[in-house]
Amino acid sequence: MLHKIEALRSEIAALTASDAAQVEELRIKYLSKKGLVAALFDQFRELPADQKRELGRPVNELKAFATDKINSLRDALGNNDDKAVGLDLTRTAAPMHTGTRHPLSLIREEIIAIFRRLGFNIAEGPEIEDDWHVFESLNFAADHPARDMQDTFFINRTPDVLLRTHTSSVQSRVMEHTEPPIRIICPGRVYRNEAVSARAHCFFHQVEALYVDKDVTFADLLQTLRYFAQEMFGPETKIRLRPSYFPFTEPSAEMDISCDLCGGKGCSFCKGTGWVEILGCGMVDPNVLDACGIDSKKYTGFALGMGVERIANLKYRVNDLRLFSENDVRFLDEFTGAH
Ligand code: DAH
Repeated sequence: MLHKIEALRSEIAALTASDAAQVEELRIKYLSKKGLVAALFDQFRELPADQKRELGRPVNELKAFATDKINSLRDALGNNDDKAVGLDLTRTAAPMHTGTRHPLSLIREEIIAIFRRLGFNIAEGPEIEDDWHVFESLNFAADHPARDMQDTFFINRTPDVLLRTHTSSVQSRVMEHTEPPIRIICPGRVYRNEAVSARAHCFFHQVEALYVDKDVTFADLLQTLRYFAQEMFGPETKIRLRPSYFPFTEPSAEMDISCDLCGGKGCSFCKGTGWVEILGCGMVDPNVLDACGIDSKKYTGFALGMGVERIANLKYRVNDLRLFSENDVRFLDEFTGAH
């Protein structure tokens, strides 16, 4: 047996090949399952234990030698005459770093999905707007402070070109050219002239919802709000409405949800109140319907608007707004696997 091994070894040592096909032939002859090296292993397996102990190493060395020899014949040919040469299909793939979805996208998609289940469709409008759609049509008085350069980024004064300060502008755009029933949800980026800090940013994101039809009442709004809050924050979530003021809704309210961190008992997150504010809402002011060409005697509607960062803060406890736009992968990677 030892002789056989040595004979095979010198035979293999003398092998030459001039192209890839020959290398492959040799590989099959010596190293395939039915090749000469495998035949030797078959014989080896039949040997008594003491001979096995003696011959184990030479047999294995022969196999390694043959493998090296075939590989070096293949390497010596270079890669040019056969694409498969040098390509190791058995190698583990390099780990691929896939990106993660941005937390704001995750929240936006979740909000949209909830409203879609209620039959709302997505509507979008431009970020660069005019005074009419952002303010005038929405019943903002001529001297309303939001119209001040201090609060709004103006691109041009006459004619007015500005960056929208809220997604409510999409309401008026849609109402202008759509007959009710209207049931829309408007996600988008908005801009305000604010110094950037942990709690304020010069751009952020909102989602607006609008429902206009015959006989839409405050009860419809309430039910929609409750459904949204419980879908978004869990079935135990309670809501409460506080009277508020917005130029485009009458009556107006702000909605709080029970603080899910302390279960409503009061903690530092909810400043001891047990409630956290999440959105503004109300019944569309008849002036707004009329300004947009919808007969306010025939139709009523409700609207609501929320900040996506605010919801993300509640869900993911991200309390520095700047993190959302710095694109720091250490932050973004924390949302791997979030859905
Ligand atoms: N546009 C308001 C804002 O930016 C949010 C808002 C409040 C939207 C009440 C509405 C609403 O549609 O009814 O603060």
